[in-house]
Amino acid sequence: MNPAKIVPLLLDWFTRNARDLPWRRTQDPYAIWVSEIMLQQTQVKTVIPFWERWMRALPTLRSLARAKPQQIHKLWEGLGYYTRVRNMQKTARLIIKNHQARFPVDFEAVLELPGIGRYTAGAICSIAFNQPRPILDGNVIRVLTRVFGIDGNPRDRAVNSRLWELAEHLVREAHATSAQPSTHPSAISRPKTIANRKSRIANHTRACSQLNQSLMELGALVCTARQPRCDICPVATLCVALKDRRVEQLPNSTPRAPATRRRFVAFVLKRDGKVLVRQRPAGVVNAHLWEFPNVEVANDDGDPRQAARGIFGIVPAELAPLCRVQHSITRYRIRLDAFWTAPDHSVDLSESVGKWASESELHRLPFASAHRKILAIL
Ligand code: ADE
Repeated sequence: MNPAKIVPLLLDWFTRNARDLPWRRTQDPYAIWVSEIMLQQTQVKTVIPFWERWMRALPTLRSLARAKPQQIHKLWEGLGYYTRVRNMQKTARLIIKNHQARFPVDFEAVLELPGIGRYTAGAICSIAFNQPRPILDGNVIRVLTRVFGIDGNPRDRAVNSRLWELAEHLVREAHATSAQPSTHPSAISRPKTIANRKSRIANHTRACSQLNQSLMELGALVCTARQPRCDICPVATLCVALKDRRVEQLPNSTPRAPATRRRFVAFVLKRDGKVLVRQRPAGVVNAHLWEFPNVEVANDDGDPRQAARGIFGIVPAELAPLCRVQHSITRYRIRLDAFWTAPDHSVDLSESVGKWASESELHRLPFASAHRKILAIL
């Protein structure tokens, strides 16, 4: 199948069906970069309020470069993978230092920035600058493997390269379409309905941006992992997987490893209206975030009294169950049992464990997600 055939269909479909997402109302590379980093590992509907809050708080590269670590962690609280937000601040500072505070336009320069790989550089350069740079993420992989009937595992080197080539071919075709508007068949052979006029405007102005976003959007809304909507797909007539009845079998990805169960015990100590919390150190998961004193226990019978002794050096006189939190992160399924304990006034816990925080302070501190769930019920 000629990949070029699907480009006008995708552009047309995108013009009519694109969701009105807040980052689609801007061409500011900073705003688009923020959206792309947030969208890694996180669904669109979750990201929207985070992105809006971030853009109100830190609307420019300079504001991000100057922000305090606690502010950027708080704005990211709940999105997880906090290295991303620390890399963003590094990147903002680098751009100010090395690029006169203007987001670089050159693809290679974008790719050199911390936390920006081939996908994100392609997304920024195509969406913000309308450059013919390909993108390949989970949604795009699903669309391409199905439409082109690609059997191999997308993680295999050769298959992955082939997919990048196809993605590049499509975005270059879109670029060519916009460069030669009057000669492209989609511009000549269609009746001039309002929608068609709209799509021609789109084709001719920001075709690379729209083509890449149409692939993401088709993967998110139509060519979904479960119950794909081939009945409303704009490229169904060209889709190899649909013709061969292999839609459900593609992409042929490695099944996920089963999640590992982990169990933790956490303690909530209250004294004079303040609660004992601690900050996670650098270099560990959820580094710099706050949490209640806690420890991993080996199995379901882990004794909270022993766990408390491990943290505080003493077995607390009182220990009452507070709540159980379930939390999944990467490949871990975490169960966190929280207990109320009475502080022992003879031991200065704040030195060895953390600090006593007032209620208002607790709400300002960025918390690890599982611990924020405990905080929510206090
Ligand atoms: N997923 C990744 N990038 C996206 C974008 N710009 N719009 C919607 N979904 C996305």
